[in-house]
Amino acid sequence: MGVLKDRFKEKAEISAAEIKHILKDHGNDKVGEVTLSQIYQGMRGITGIVSETSLLDSQEGIRFRGYSIPELQEKLPKVDGGSEPLPEGLFFLMLIGELPTDEDVADISSMLQRRSHVPNHVFAAIEALPVTSHPMTQFVVGIMALQTESNFSKKYAAGMAKKDYWESMFDDSMDLIARLPRVAAYIYRRKYKNAEHIHPNGLLDWAGNLAHMLGYEDESFKELMRLYMTIHADHEGGNVSAHTTHLVGSALSDPYLSLAAGMNGLAGPLHGLANQEVIKWIFEMREELKTESPTQEQITEYVKKTLSEGKVVPGYGHAVLRKTDPRFTAQMEFGKKHMPDDPLVQTVWNIYEAVPPVLQSMAKIKNPWPNVDAHSGALLVHYGMVEYEFYTVLFGVSRALGVLASLCWDRALSLPLERPKSVTTELVKKWINNEGEIWGD
Ligand SMILES: CC(C)(COP(=O)(O)OP(=O)(O)OC[C@H]1O[C@@H](n2cnc3c(N)ncnc32)[C@H](O)[C@@H]1OP(=O)(O)O)[C@@H](O)C(=O)NCCC(=O)NCCS
Repeated sequence: MGVLKDRFKEKAEISAAEIKHILKDHGNDKVGEVTLSQIYQGMRGITGIVSETSLLDSQEGIRFRGYSIPELQEKLPKVDGGSEPLPEGLFFLMLIGELPTDEDVADISSMLQRRSHVPNHVFAAIEALPVTSHPMTQFVVGIMALQTESNFSKKYAAGMAKKDYWESMFDDSMDLIARLPRVAAYIYRRKYKNAEHIHPNGLLDWAGNLAHMLGYEDESFKELMRLYMTIHADHEGGNVSAHTTHLVGSALSDPYLSLAAGMNGLAGPLHGLANQEVIKWIFEMREELKTESPTQEQITEYVKKTLSEGKVVPGYGHAVLRKTDPRFTAQMEFGKKHMPDDPLVQTVWNIYEAVPPVLQSMAKIKNPWPNVDAHSGALLVHYGMVEYEFYTVLFGVSRALGVLASLCWDRALSLPLERPKSVTTELVKKWINNEGEIWGD
C-alpha cells in the first residue's frame, strides 16, 4: 500500500508542476467555441473536464492511458493459466500511468484483500430495504452505509491541511474498491439465492473473488469477471457516472458520497441500466416470436416495431462513439472462444447484423453501432446469471476503479469546485436581441 501511495504521490507531484507550467504559458488559449445548441443539447462536444485515466476517440474507442483494449489484453498481468487481464493491473495503469509488473498487481490484490472487511451495519442497512428493491438501490444504500468508514470526512472534521486531502481520499478509495465486491455479492445472494451468502476467499484475485462470492466457481466465469471488470472501468470523464463522481467530489464530498452519486447516474436506462434493458428486450423478442433463435429478418422487423413504438433499441448508439464499441468486440471474442454455440449469444451476433442498417436509415441517429451493453448480458446468462436487474451492479463495481482513480487525481491536482454558468431562456432571448450577454464572469 505504502509503495502504491508513494508512487502515486511522486507521479501526481510531477503532473501538478507540469500543469502549473502549461497554465502559466497557455492558460488563456482558446480550446473551442460553444454554440447555443450545445447548451440545450447535453453539452455534446464541449471540452470542459480534465480526466487523466482514459481518453475516448469517436472512431477508435477507449484508450486507457494510451492503451487500447486488445493491447491491455496482451500486456496486463493475468492469473496463472489465464488469458484475461487482471483489473487490478488496469487500476494501477489508470492511477500511476505506467503498465504494472506482476508484482505490482499481486501487491494490489493483497492490499485489496486486507482492506475488504465490510462492517455489519452495512448489511443491516441493505436488509432494511425490501428484498424487491432494485439491486442498484441496494448497492447505493450499501455504499452510503460504508461512508461511516471514511477517513477523509473524519480528518476533514478534525481540521486537515489542504495539501493532505489527497492522502485520505486515496485511502478511502482503496477501502471502497476493496469492499464493493462483498457488498455486490451480498445483494445478489440476498435477492436471488435465498440469502445463502458465501464467504470471501482470501487467496483469490479481486474479480475472481467476486465471482466466487456470487456463487460461480467455473474458471471461465472468473475469466469473464476479470475481462468485464477491466472493460467497464472507465470511459473518459464526461459520461454520467464519471462526471457525477467528479462533480460531487469537487465539493470535497468523500469517495463514498461521490461514488454513490455516480452510481445513481449509472442506474439510469440511458447509461448503465442499458445492459439489463438489452437482455429484457431480447427475452421479450424471443417470447413474442416464439423462438429461441430468431432469424435476421425477424429481428429486423422487431427492431422496426420497437422504433415505431417510440422506444430506443437498447445497446445501440452512443453519445461520442461512431463505430462498434471495442468493448462489444472484446466480449464477442470471449463468446467465440468460450460459448460459440450458445443460442442467446448467437442472437446477439445476429442483432449486430440486423440493427445497424435499420438505424442507419434514420438520419437523426448519429451512431448505429453497438455499445458495451449490447453484449454483456448474454455472456452472463450463459453461466446461469439470468437475473438481469443485477447487471448494472457489476458494471458499477467495475466503474468504481476508473472514477475513484480519477477522484484521487482530482484531489492530488487540487482541482477546484466545479461550477459552470447556467442561463435562462429569458436571458437567451435577450441575448439574441442584443439586449444582454449570456457568458459568465
Ligand atoms: C446512448 C444514447 C443515449 C446516446 O444519445 P445521443 O447522444 O442523444 O444520440 P444521438 O445524437 O445519436 O441521438 C439522436 C436521436 O436518435 C435517437 N437514438 C439514438 N440511439 C438510438 C437507439 N439506439 N434507438 C432509437 N433511437 C436512438 C435519440 O433518442 C435521439 O432522438 P430524438 O432526437 O428524438 O431525441 C442513445 O444512443 C440511446 O438511447 N441508446 C440506447 C440506450 C443505450 O444503449 N445506452 C447505453 C449507452 S453506453
